[in-house]
Amino acid sequence: MFKILQKTQFSEKVFKFRIEAPEMAKHAHAGQFLMVRANERGERVPFTFADWNAEEGWVEFIFMVIGKTTTMLSTYEEGDSLQDVVGPLGVPTEMGEGTWVVIGGGVGLAIAFPVARQLVATGHEVHVIMGARTKDLLLLEDQFRSILPDDHLHITTDDGSYGEQGVVTAPLERLLEGGDADRVFCVGPVPMMKFSTLTAQKFGTPIIASLNPIMVDGTGMCGCCRVEIDGQTKFACVDGPDFDATKVDWNDLRARQAAYRTEEGQSLKAYEEANCACQR
Ligand SMILES: Cc1cc2nc3c(=O)[nH]c(=O)nc-3n(C[C@H](O)[C@H](O)[C@H](O)COP(=O)(O)OP(=O)(O)OC[C@H]3O[C@@H](n4cnc5c(N)ncnc54)[C@H](O)[C@@H]3O)c2cc1C
Ligand code: FES
Repeated sequence: MFKILQKTQFSEKVFKFRIEAPEMAKHAHAGQFLMVRANERGERVPFTFADWNAEEGWVEFIFMVIGKTTTMLSTYEEGDSLQDVVGPLGVPTEMGEGTWVVIGGGVGLAIAFPVARQLVATGHEVHVIMGARTKDLLLLEDQFRSILPDDHLHITTDDGSYGEQGVVTAPLERLLEGGDADRVFCVGPVPMMKFSTLTAQKFGTPIIASLNPIMVDGTGMCGCCRVEIDGQTKFACVDGPDFDATKVDWNDLRARQAAYRTEEGQSLKAYEEANCACQR
């Protein structure tokens, strides 16, 4: 069992858990993730390490409430325990030299934040582009502001309710044109990653995408997270989650992510209708 030492609520749907995990804390790196199974009957879901402390023996992850499991997790409180937490999993993000542009869209902002923070902590100049459909869906703005100068944070919303109206590729293009980007990291919805990749490719700038296919075991055994990279099948949980974005088959990834949408909707509905303590 893994005890929740601290629960922080950032907004209506965004939470951070600090959990007791001394062994994991000794080995975690930015870009890696853990798999959580909240209770004996729960599904396994992946979350990126947001922070860790080997001396104090804890790790943290930030999650956005989306479906059944994240809704249920949001009801856990400090002092409660999670059944299983496995990690660190995946390959750490490679933090090459130069100025970075980190792009996060939607729930991808929770994954982009620890990468941006680690890049800043290791002495890189970093621009962050935060993108969301509308203002209410922008996660962790205060956290990004706390690590960046004001002119290095670029915000776009599709509906213009906050920041610049439009999509993340507009500020990305400006940064690339101005010579302010040697490398790009992106994570978020598939169309966002795909068009960020096409924009970076126009300028010949390397771009990494953190891919988020559905994962089950997280250790390369089940094949559920397979992605097509340069015509070859890779497992995002052990070969990634970061890949050269110019080599990703985006149509395949999009189809695989959507494979269980009907069941996911049914599962959330059943959970909300039953909504009782026995679900935990
Ligand atoms: C490597 C990796 C790191 C991630 N890091 C974070 C993070 O730090 N913070 C965060 O909020 N989210 C993160 N996610 C996404 C997170 O795992 C999903 O939001 C979560 O699993 C949704 O579960 P649900 O039951 O609440 O929603 P559901 O309604 O079951 O699913 C909603 C959507 O979430 C995705 N999803 C569902 N189950 C899984 C699964 N087992 N594996 C992967 N994706 C799934 C699918 O795209 C699905 O359509 C990460 C995903 C991956 C692959
Ligand atoms: S999640 Fe099973 S192989 Fe990657």
